[in-house]
Amino acid sequence: MDQMDNVIAYKRSDEKLKLQLEKLSMQSGIKIVPMDALSEADGLPILRYVKQKLCLEDDGERLFFHPSMALLRMINILRGVPDRFLQAVNLEAGDIFLDATMGLASDTLISAYAVGSNGSVLAVESSPLIHFLVQDGLDQVKQFKPAKKLSQVKAQAWVELSQATSCIETVWADHTRILEGLPDASVDVVYFDPMFRVTVKESSSIRPLKKWSNPNPLDKDTIREACRVSRKRVVLKERKGSSEFTRLGFYVKEKNKYSPVDFGIIDLTRVGEGFQ
Ligand SMILES: C[S@@+](CC[C@H](N)C(=O)[O-])C[C@H]1O[C@@H](n2cnc3c(N)ncnc32)[C@H](O)[C@@H]1O
Repeated sequence: MDQMDNVIAYKRSDEKLKLQLEKLSMQSGIKIVPMDALSEADGLPILRYVKQKLCLEDDGERLFFHPSMALLRMINILRGVPDRFLQAVNLEAGDIFLDATMGLASDTLISAYAVGSNGSVLAVESSPLIHFLVQDGLDQVKQFKPAKKLSQVKAQAWVELSQATSCIETVWADHTRILEGLPDASVDVVYFDPMFRVTVKESSSIRPLKKWSNPNPLDKDTIREACRVSRKRVVLKERKGSSEFTRLGFYVKEKNKYSPVDFGIIDLTRVGEGFQ
């Protein structure tokens, strides 16, 4: 983020948003200005509700939370189609899952479904604005009431996602700081899905996320901490063939020739595995 990006504008008439933004501003240092008060606000990123969805408009791009990807995945899971993320993290009901890179929370929602009401998911996001947008979106998913005209499987998928939100706690923080504060073997699985080191083609939904997200590579100390904190495994999602798997000590078991990504695993249940 450059200097300009540390200021966001909002509509003065949106009282609810104003209160939330004042809190965000106090916590994160992001400056907020009402868009009708300053001509300087022209060209600033704007946060506002569009069709009841909180939306960050910037440079002609819109960043907002929509659980469409999680919904599609949920429908497939209900139809019995394997989900590669779920295969990689291998969660069981009741597990404690740490999603170290929440982003737009598609994996967060799917993991929350997998651990169920006796499990828990802690989702960590270091970008204050992404955390703000996604937390608002998850609150809306929680209150979702399916419309009558939805197909049975789609309605069921919405219900599952809505229920799944109950075991999610989100936090705006750097994941390394969170890991450092956790006791040994206190969660079952830690998961990293960082911004890819090399982006071949950017989709229109990824472009705005990229601008506001944390682009830093993972460091070895963070993975060491994740191995200390996990009981079962640490998982990394990366672009297929990424040198990050080897650099950080992950083993890619199930390669999928049709997918541009792979999941690397450090299996902590095997004697001798762990961070080298
Ligand atoms: C590729 S996205 C994750 C997508 C996510 N798995 C999903 O299903 O939507 C990566 C996210 O991790 C966040 N991130 C990167 N480094 C981080 C860190 N050190 N601590 C917390 N979050 C981080 C980025 O800001 C970005 O939002």
